[in-house]
Amino acid sequence: MQRTKLVPMLAAIAAAFTLGTSHAQVKVGLILPMTGQQASTGKQIEAAVKLYMQQKGDTVAGKKIELIVKDDGAVPDNTKRIAQELIVNDKVNFIAGFGVTPAALAAAPLATQAKVPLIVMAAGTSIITERSPYIVRTSFTLAQSSVIIADWAAKNGIKKVVTLVSDYAPGADAQKSFSERFVKAGGTVAAELKVPLAVPDFSPVLQRARDEKPDALFVFVPSGQGGTFVKQFIERGLDKAGIRLIGPGDVTDDDLLNGMGDQVIGTVTAHMYSAVHPSPTNKAFVDAFRKANNNLRPNFMAVGGYDGMHLIYEALKKTNGSTDGDALIGAMKGMAWESPRGPISIDPETRDIVQNIYIRKVEKVGGELYNVEFATVNAVKDPVKAEKK
Ligand code: PHB
Repeated sequence: MQRTKLVPMLAAIAAAFTLGTSHAQVKVGLILPMTGQQASTGKQIEAAVKLYMQQKGDTVAGKKIELIVKDDGAVPDNTKRIAQELIVNDKVNFIAGFGVTPAALAAAPLATQAKVPLIVMAAGTSIITERSPYIVRTSFTLAQSSVIIADWAAKNGIKKVVTLVSDYAPGADAQKSFSERFVKAGGTVAAELKVPLAVPDFSPVLQRARDEKPDALFVFVPSGQGGTFVKQFIERGLDKAGIRLIGPGDVTDDDLLNGMGDQVIGTVTAHMYSAVHPSPTNKAFVDAFRKANNNLRPNFMAVGGYDGMHLIYEALKKTNGSTDGDALIGAMKGMAWESPRGPISIDPETRDIVQNIYIRKVEKVGGELYNVEFATVNAVKDPVKAEKK
């Protein structure tokens, strides 16, 4: 009796020992909105991170990578509690993800306290990277695209604009950077409108915008809301009234674009990623992503996640597998690589992303709606930080 018990016990101890030495030497806590309004962002980023690990293997610099995915529902109190648990209990070496700005801001002080790198794969408010020296961003800032669409509008016969943004930090960034740049170029901003983030009712603001008779409506809504917005824009006849829809590319999100209907054809936006970005790297990425995810089209959030994982892998290679937070952040500063979106780098001074911003027009390609890039502004730094210097 005793003997039969002892053998499995020894086997269990041996297994635990083997696991203990070869398993999970580096832990990455991925905090994403997997439920709620921002769930599409969570789904896209998780899929991209897993694709990266599947393609590159789960061992880096001799260390096994373990991914721990947690759902914060984009609620900052949850993000903070989850980040704390991941750092204290699971002893993760990185926290990553962050589907919305308030989530990234809530976790920032914990990154500083624990000296754990925090990789922002989605959120886009300029200030985020200034909240901790341990934050590095692979997504984008709203200002990067907003100033470029302002320049394009001013040069393309658009004189009077109404702006309409989701009423929280990235919306404020988009509105401010667009308006300042557009007015400087001689344009007029007739009204600056806002809609609540959580339950956006676009009808009163669309009516107000229509009454102003602008040449264009500049819009920022976060990824996931573009479909509802465009539907109401068309239902209320703003397109037929000759009002052009412009903005950062969140509104013509690749995740939803193909379901928006042909009325959206011709919409011009500025953004860092389109699923039809014409490069071999992107084609390989889109093909592999679709194959692994039931033909889902990757959007700009997926690319932020894919590149965030690349940043983690390459930083670990540079530190020879050391998980010292300062060494990892040092390794990330100035890193440059070819992303599915094009060439990108991490600004060594700000730890923010430097990337091309493309001007795109919605067109039908092979029977599907896509954002087709027609002009490129190279190596754009976050304009908000550039202005502060
Ligand atoms: C943000 O909360 O920073 C955010 C979320 C979704 C976007 C852009 C920015 O599409």
